[in-house]
Amino acid sequence: MKALVFNGVGDIRLEEVDLPKILNDNDAIVRVTLSAICGTDLHLVRGTVGQMQKGTILGHEAVGVIEQIGKAVRNFTVGDRVIIPSTVACGFCPSCRKSNFSQCLESNPNGPEAGTTFFGGPKSSGPLQGCQAEYVRVPFASVNLVKLPEEVSDHEAILLSDIFPTAYFGADIAKVGPGKVVVVLGCGPVGQFAITSCKLLGASRIFAIDNIGSRLDLARKQGAECINFNEEDPTEIIKELTKGTLADIVIDAVGVEAEKPSSGPAKKEGEKLKKEFQQELESIAPKLNVQGKQWKPGDAPSQALRAAVGMAAPGGTISIIGYYPPELDAFPIGQAMNKNLNIVMGNCPHKKYIPLLLEKVRIGVVDPTTILSQERTLEEIVEAYKHFDLREEGWIKVAIKP
Ligand SMILES: NC(=O)c1ccc[n+]([C@@H]2O[C@H](COP(=O)([O-])OP(=O)(O)OC[C@H]3O[C@@H](n4cnc5c(N)ncnc54)[C@H](O)[C@@H]3O)[C@@H](O)[C@H]2O)c1
Ligand SMILES: [Zn+2]
Ligand SMILES: [Zn+2]
Repeated sequence: MKALVFNGVGDIRLEEVDLPKILNDNDAIVRVTLSAICGTDLHLVRGTVGQMQKGTILGHEAVGVIEQIGKAVRNFTVGDRVIIPSTVACGFCPSCRKSNFSQCLESNPNGPEAGTTFFGGPKSSGPLQGCQAEYVRVPFASVNLVKLPEEVSDHEAILLSDIFPTAYFGADIAKVGPGKVVVVLGCGPVGQFAITSCKLLGASRIFAIDNIGSRLDLARKQGAECINFNEEDPTEIIKELTKGTLADIVIDAVGVEAEKPSSGPAKKEGEKLKKEFQQELESIAPKLNVQGKQWKPGDAPSQALRAAVGMAAPGGTISIIGYYPPELDAFPIGQAMNKNLNIVMGNCPHKKYIPLLLEKVRIGVVDPTTILSQERTLEEIVEAYKHFDLREEGWIKVAIKP
């Protein structure tokens, strides 16, 4: 079959590989009917998170049709249409029983202390072969597949695999609710769905921050109050628009590849931290493979974290769902401590939220397809990655059809 294979940092190729096989009784083989490229995939290819193993098939977002099942899988049959949640959970360990599925103690081949297991990730996450392929093996399939109702299309379902649940998780753990003033840092797909989720949970004001015009336009269409960090100083604007009271909740939907402002009044503040940012980047990404403008990592790993602490009201909450590798230890802890901030964060326990959000999509409360900006075939996937990597205007979320 065809699959997108990681060959090294900045080196991904569409290759002919062996078909996946059932290895355990609780496995299923799914024929992928739609997958997608995620901001997390860019971290992996640019080399900013974790050690990737050569030969790993990328991709952790997919919908498909069950082609084969192991004999321990009793709740599905061949031919069922399913969503594949990005993270893998066993469904019976103590973590899973607390619905903390992304900290499953059974599913990671590296052992119970290895942390989150997900498709197409670094060595520490399995590694499991990913879904940017024609077929994928899903372990613990009775727990790790969600059946798709007939009336929900693949295009509606693909964002339920990772992005929408992650964003909703970020809002849920921060206790977004009626009356809350929320800042969403980053207007990529996760940021867009963080705005959607805050609306669903009743937030009264949602500020959205980015520097890409088309992404801010989409955020504004959703009703967010938008700020371009290359034109204005976001912290100052939020202070001004809240009469100095700042935000109850700040959701970091940026992660480790944050950029510092390159123009406007916030540029000076970012420049002051240039040396720190450079050191952070060296510590997390010792091996880069920048080719011109391609595969260039963000220049300010802790920028979004620092901004979040600055924008949160005393006693407020920061919710970190943007991805940070274990190697990053830069966080303005003193400032956060002295503001009595609550900090919540983590990898999304997808299985916890997908059924709830799937129902919202099924009954038409949310139309996730508005976030899908491009569709390409598996044959075109390397080119699609390259466009997406360049942060081009209008490229928000790319669906991939095998
Ligand atoms: N916690 C989880 O379980 C989980 C799941 C999925 C994705 N993620 C992570 O969430 C993050 C966002 O994912 P995505 O697919 O939306 O990625 P993305 O790269 O498309 O979006 C990030 C956005 O942040 C913007 N940005 C950069 N610097 C900024 C700054 N200083 N202030 C405000 N905005 C800034 C970028 O312009 C971009 O639009 C990534 O780090 C991804 O790995 C985490
Ligand atoms: Zn993803
Ligand atoms: Zn488990």
